[in-house]
Amino acid sequence: MKHFNRYLVTAALPYANGPVHIGHLAGCYLPADIYVRYLRAKKTDVKFVCGTDEHGVPITIKAMQENVNPQDIVDKYHAVIKESFDAMGISFDIFSRTSNQVHHQTAADFFSKMYNDGLFEEKESEQYFDEIKQVFLADRYIIGTCPNCGNDKAYGDQCERCGTSLSPDELINPRSALSDAVPVKRKTKHWYMPLQNYEPWLKEYIIEGHKEWKNNVYGQCKSWLDSGLQSRAMTRDSNWGIKVPLKDAEGKVLYVWFDAPIGYISATKELTDQWADYWCKEDTRLIHFIGKDNIVFHCIIFPAMLRAHGGFVVPDNVPANEFLNIEGEKVSTSRNWAVWVHDYIRDFPDQQDILRYVLCTTAPETKDNDFTWKDFQDRNNNELVANFGNFVNRTMVLMHKLCGGKVPAMHASVKDAADDAIYAMLQEAKVKISDSIENFRFRDALNEVMNVAREGNRYLQEKQPWILAKTPELQAANQEKIDNCLHVCLQLTANLAIFINPFLPFTSQKICHMLKVVDRILEWENAGSMKLVSVGYSLRAPELLFKKVEDDQVKAQVDKLHAGLKQSAAAQAQPAPVAAPVPEKKPEIQYDDFAKLELKVGTIIAAEKVAKADKLLKLTIDLGTEQRTVVSGIAMHYTPEAIVGKQVTLVANLAPRKMKGIESQGMILMAEDKDGRLVFVNPADAVAPGSGVS
Ligand code: MF3
Ligand code: ZN
Repeated sequence: MKHFNRYLVTAALPYANGPVHIGHLAGCYLPADIYVRYLRAKKTDVKFVCGTDEHGVPITIKAMQENVNPQDIVDKYHAVIKESFDAMGISFDIFSRTSNQVHHQTAADFFSKMYNDGLFEEKESEQYFDEIKQVFLADRYIIGTCPNCGNDKAYGDQCERCGTSLSPDELINPRSALSDAVPVKRKTKHWYMPLQNYEPWLKEYIIEGHKEWKNNVYGQCKSWLDSGLQSRAMTRDSNWGIKVPLKDAEGKVLYVWFDAPIGYISATKELTDQWADYWCKEDTRLIHFIGKDNIVFHCIIFPAMLRAHGGFVVPDNVPANEFLNIEGEKVSTSRNWAVWVHDYIRDFPDQQDILRYVLCTTAPETKDNDFTWKDFQDRNNNELVANFGNFVNRTMVLMHKLCGGKVPAMHASVKDAADDAIYAMLQEAKVKISDSIENFRFRDALNEVMNVAREGNRYLQEKQPWILAKTPELQAANQEKIDNCLHVCLQLTANLAIFINPFLPFTSQKICHMLKVVDRILEWENAGSMKLVSVGYSLRAPELLFKKVEDDQVKAQVDKLHAGLKQSAAAQAQPAPVAAPVPEKKPEIQYDDFAKLELKVGTIIAAEKVAKADKLLKLTIDLGTEQRTVVSGIAMHYTPEAIVGKQVTLVANLAPRKMKGIESQGMILMAEDKDGRLVFVNPADAVAPGSGVS
């Protein structure tokens, strides 16, 4: 493997158009922070850069919604986001902004260099134009009726109600979001990067050169490269962004995905005069932490830009995570189905490490995963409190009670195999934890740390120093054994501080405080040592590392989530036809009409997303004697993982219908409330699959 002398670690620049939620944390900021804290503990030369992404359509849309200037929006959310990260202990070396002067200059120079080297194609195309406002309209600024569901506030790139991706040409009755004018097509000139020219290099770089990348990342890159790249416009018509540094480029700005990743370079420039070491020297390891929706930009477009410009290293790894769902449903900021980091910090003051713990152990490293408040409580109470916290607390309490508040000696005469086993276990754990972190398997690494605590509890349980000290006479006779046990437990506690530090830095600090040791002890090379706290040293009183999360706290959070839920602006404006708030009355029917329906109870035995259809899931339903494939529009409400095993009621004699190329053999019954929430209609108690309903 190549040898690197320094690391540059980046985390995706969040758009400054709203606060951050826990899905953001789990997706990239927390893993990046764990990785960087570990590298620092190994005394690696590393810089960790991030900042807010302050250009592009998401910002201008938000400004429009709130009726303020884009500048007001980015100022406000830069501060909010920075505060959330600070509070959670995300330890960036710099948290910059793409509106900074350094960045404008850096991005403009980058563009100019590519332009002067003749690397752009100039092309004219037809774009929608608002004649009243005299501006070109980004797809998001065009609103019209969705051809799929009839929502009359669908955007030119997507319908937020049914999730279909659209192009402005597909909208029925397109209107400008700025003026309500009917947009007209107008010619406009832009600068395109012919990505296809970089294809051979990209294939070499990724397909051949980075087979070690995570499957989800490698797979997505491969499918992009296999289906062939095209020229992509690197400029836009807008007055918000970085001006295109050319003559005759009035009203043109750099495409936000051109400027934002250059933000990593600008932030490094702001951070250190040595910035070029981190960007231009081949022995730098550049690592981008991102969420899965950013893969193509970080693995294909940005590397192609770096290559085209020349003189820069390219990413050596891009460990992208999948998405974190909340209580079985996808995060939706427009519906306010999210757990906001600033809310968490307010509701759980000084308990950042519980959230860090839960997000790391449930991180969507290989597939989408689910966060629930019940699970949050369970993991805290059963793992942090009952295992880790319990071990450290028992050690501290027993040491004060049985060893006079000082680190007891290790007496060779009574040392036994169990003591040696702890030492051996620590050596093994150190290797496993390092290996997992270095390979971006943070869940495994953290589990291994918890195993160390578990071994500590087991050791204490085996030695039972409280039994050895049951009476003063017994204690006097057994003091050496008691000393050895607590000596080992204290060294183990110090080791836990080192191991847990990248994951739960606040907890690590608390342990250091109790043990009266300085931060330097947390250096990784110290892990595995049994000489971390010195014999005879007097220690502080124990303080609890974690406290229980109570049922009422869980309930309050779940209630808050549901109370905050709102329908998207589009859905509010016009209720979905399938979800009319006042159910229309249907004409009376006879029993014979009803008897025509064949309703059966089935069990979902498999579920998967349907490609290129955001709202559809393909279900396999077991009816006892046969299995049916059913395509159902519930993907915005349930994840595939969450519904396998559930019973449903199936209209079994509905004529088959093809959807997205899949034959749907029936329809499942769903109840829908006024908020548009869908839930299964199923028997109150489980029945055999295939049971009839009448
Ligand atoms: N703002 C983008 C998002 O939130 C991420 C930008 S990452 C960068 O999806 F590389 F472009 F900076
Ligand atoms: Zn729609």
